[in-house]
Amino acid sequence: MLTVDQLDALRSTLASWRQAGQRIAFVPTMGNLHAGHHSLIRLAREHADRVVASVFVNPTQFGPNEDFSRYPRTPQADAEGLGAAGCDLLWLPSVETMYPFGAQNTVQVSVPGVTETLEGAHRPGHFDGVATVVARLFNQVGPDLAVFGRKDFQQLAVIRYLVRDLAFALDIVAAPTLREADGLAMSSRNQYLSAEERPRAAEIHRVLQSMREAVQAGREREAVEAEAGERLAAAGFAVDYAAIRRPDLTIPESAPGQGDGARVALIAARLGRTRLIDNLEFTA
Ligand code: PAF
Repeated sequence: MLTVDQLDALRSTLASWRQAGQRIAFVPTMGNLHAGHHSLIRLAREHADRVVASVFVNPTQFGPNEDFSRYPRTPQADAEGLGAAGCDLLWLPSVETMYPFGAQNTVQVSVPGVTETLEGAHRPGHFDGVATVVARLFNQVGPDLAVFGRKDFQQLAVIRYLVRDLAFALDIVAAPTLREADGLAMSSRNQYLSAEERPRAAEIHRVLQSMREAVQAGREREAVEAEAGERLAAAGFAVDYAAIRRPDLTIPESAPGQGDGARVALIAARLGRTRLIDNLEFTA
């Protein structure tokens, strides 16, 4: 695997691959990679001749009280894992390369609508930072397709909007969420959980499953959301939201009609100092 930290070198390598008619897949990450990320690389491989991954801890998507400085950086293990999963090129831009005028003076990309609810409501500015860096990464790499995990359901919706609205000539491939044996979604944040918190964290997945069953049984959305919140609070979580939405994240009618359509249950909740998010897609 090639590791590249200069834009010129990235562009000339990618140009030679393109000239050889090779299809290029891209997996953007913030590093501290786990089996979930490795599965994105393997999925990318299935769709392309070459796989490029980026590792960049993006300062513009962290709020003032979030964990930017404490975000784990594990460059050695990341490179080894990416190589083993079949990545051809690791793109490692510096903050100066990503934001030549400084992170405060960047041209901002701001996606309306879908960014205003759920994560967007609890993390102001977060999705502007994501859209801003992903637009830059797409311009730097120019891939034929890019892979994003379904675990960050709202992020995926934001990226799809961005790609369509700014006419990026690439396909988005959505990758399934990888889970631990007890159902906890894999995440870099799981390592912050204490030994006592770790088994309790799997309650999020169990509550999502109960939400799905309740909606499918015809229960009213508001009641299902309220019960989910209470159950998480009883298990010791500070709940940001437990919500049922349509896949475009608009709010569906209270009680589903028969065969009403696609739904997603979404949870964000904190256990101690660790904020976890997860979701479950289903048909009502
Ligand atoms: O999902 C992530 O790891 C980040 O939000 C992304 C897409 C790499 C942008 O920094």
